[in-house]
Amino acid sequence: MIGGIYNRRMRLATHALDSLPPGLAEALDGPRRIEVLQSRSTPHTAVHQLTLGDGRTVWCKQYLRKLADAAKEYAFLTDAWAAGLPVVEPLALLADRGALVTRHAGGSSLSSKVRQAFDGTCGAAQLRETAEDCARSGEFLARWHSRTITPSADDPSRVVQIVETLAPREVRRFAELAAEAEGEETFRVRAHGDFGPHNILADGAAAVILDPSFPDDLDVLGNLASPCEDAGRFVACLHDTTARTPGSRVSRTLIDAFLGAYNAVARNPIDPSSPALRLFTARHLLQNLLDWRSRPTPAFAVLRRFERWVQQEESVSARS
Ligand SMILES: Nc1ncnc2c1ncn2[C@@H]1O[C@H](COP(=O)(O)OP(=O)(O)OP(=O)(O)O)[C@@H](O)[C@H]1O
Ligand SMILES: [Mg+2]
Repeated sequence: MIGGIYNRRMRLATHALDSLPPGLAEALDGPRRIEVLQSRSTPHTAVHQLTLGDGRTVWCKQYLRKLADAAKEYAFLTDAWAAGLPVVEPLALLADRGALVTRHAGGSSLSSKVRQAFDGTCGAAQLRETAEDCARSGEFLARWHSRTITPSADDPSRVVQIVETLAPREVRRFAELAAEAEGEETFRVRAHGDFGPHNILADGAAAVILDPSFPDDLDVLGNLASPCEDAGRFVACLHDTTARTPGSRVSRTLIDAFLGAYNAVARNPIDPSSPALRLFTARHLLQNLLDWRSRPTPAFAVLRRFERWVQQEESVSARS
């Protein structure tokens, strides 16, 4: 009986090992033993947590479609790591397999802490801790952006083209926001590309950033974009898209912590009511609402919710 279970486990382990990219052991200086702790995959990536014979715990991420993104992610992490910024430590790149390996970082996903803050299941102390985690994320982003400033402005009207495919009726509002944002910035920065709480591990004392990303609309720009691309994505993720009414006190607390910390260290601070921030926040909020809607919610209901949010944001920035 026990032997049967053992054999089944062995088969599972062997199967999981088979799915690792060939050449992995050599890229990691040939550890004698590799054990797969957990694996998950999407159509885009396969991610495995591994323990190595030398005691290290690492993560191997393999891109299944855009193989070249592994080298881009590795380059981002290597540059940030060399600058002493808190990202997951890059250990190896298998460029021809579209895979990279990072050292395991502790902490739990900041997005689950933000979720608990929205649910009201956390007390004042935990909300303070989550706000501090958001502040650390803002500090990371400002340091990274400040190091990667490049002359030449982003083009706000490119957002309108993205939104055209998401929600044609909203395009007019976005065109107005883009026109307001025109000329506001004269520089771009190296964007993280998916800077949301879901890609930040936080333990209350540190926040570690992972998963720099290269979506098509940023890839064509070499991931050089307005700083509000990342900042707006993070702010959008701090809006509780499941709430009936937008603009909760918890959201405001977390957003203020994030932007306050960004502006305390950024070479070019972001005005919280700037059209560029509102433009990129609105674009990511719309995308989140459409991507993350619970199954039965029809798209038109999502869009009405989005309109309420834009109105609320405008009244807040008119008051400030
Ligand atoms: N070095 C690491 N330390 C700790 N956890 C990690 C590490 N690398 C990956 N993970 C875990 O694996 C998850 C998926 O990794 P990652 O975000 O890089 O892959 P992904 O396929 O782009 O995921 P998603 O599409 O969900 O963003 C992370 O959210 C995190 O929980
Ligand atoms: Mg991720």
